[in-house]
Amino acid sequence: MISVRDSDQLRQLLLQAKQDGQSVGFVPTMGALHPGHLSLVKEAKQQCNLVVVSIFVNPTQFNEQSDFDRYPRNEQADLDLLRQAEVNIVFLPEASEMYAVEEPLLHFDFEGLDTVMEGKHRPGHFQGVVTIVDKFFSLINPNAAFFGQKDFQQLAIVKLLAKRRHPHIQIVGCPIHREANGLAMSSRNTLLIEADRSHAAVLHRALLHIQQGWHLQRADTLRTEAIHMLTEAGVTLEYLEIADSQTLMPFSDSYNHEAVACLAVRYGAVRLIDNILLPASPRA
Ligand code: PAF
Repeated sequence: MISVRDSDQLRQLLLQAKQDGQSVGFVPTMGALHPGHLSLVKEAKQQCNLVVVSIFVNPTQFNEQSDFDRYPRNEQADLDLLRQAEVNIVFLPEASEMYAVEEPLLHFDFEGLDTVMEGKHRPGHFQGVVTIVDKFFSLINPNAAFFGQKDFQQLAIVKLLAKRRHPHIQIVGCPIHREANGLAMSSRNTLLIEADRSHAAVLHRALLHIQQGWHLQRADTLRTEAIHMLTEAGVTLEYLEIADSQTLMPFSDSYNHEAVACLAVRYGAVRLIDNILLPASPRA
């Protein structure tokens, strides 16, 4: 595995690989790697000859400085995991490598995908995400890029970014990985105290409640019941929405589309998100 901190060196390595006819798979991460990230690497290795993983805690997508400061970082453990996973190149840029001073963030019309849920609760977050993902896409120019479905809204927005600005890059969404108790794997889970980590199993239970009742009850009834489950359990809920999985607009029972139930909660200073897909028809 080659570790690279310099964009020019990465560009050179990839140029050579592409001249040799190799396909490139890209897995962007912010480090503190867990089995969910490794499943993205595995998928990338299955689909492409050469896999590049980036580790970069992107400052522009944090809307609270304290959240950025606290974000878990463990470079040595990450490098060990990536070496074991037989990644070809790991890219570890400094912030100065990715951002010129006073550079504006990338703004484009997200077709409303950014105005709900995470976009509403974390103003500016998605501008930061698309800015860095766009830079990585321009630099690496992969054949395919792999993203986790836990960040469902991010995945939808990255697909739109690719469609508009990098149409030759295939965006691959990979399933959520869960702890034994159902908690969706996240780098932020390491910040939870043990009691909260086991308590947070209720998040998946609430989402499963919606999924299990999906063909039997109205969406708003299931949403209300799931919110009740969470608040009864003492969870600090930011939002729980049932949305059309394509537009992310609130789901209506008259739709015959796939839907998604998404939530965000807080355990003290730690913010967690999760979601579950809800198949199209037949609905009650
Ligand atoms: O999902 C993440 O870890 C980040 O948002 C990403 C895609 C690496 C961009 O910083």
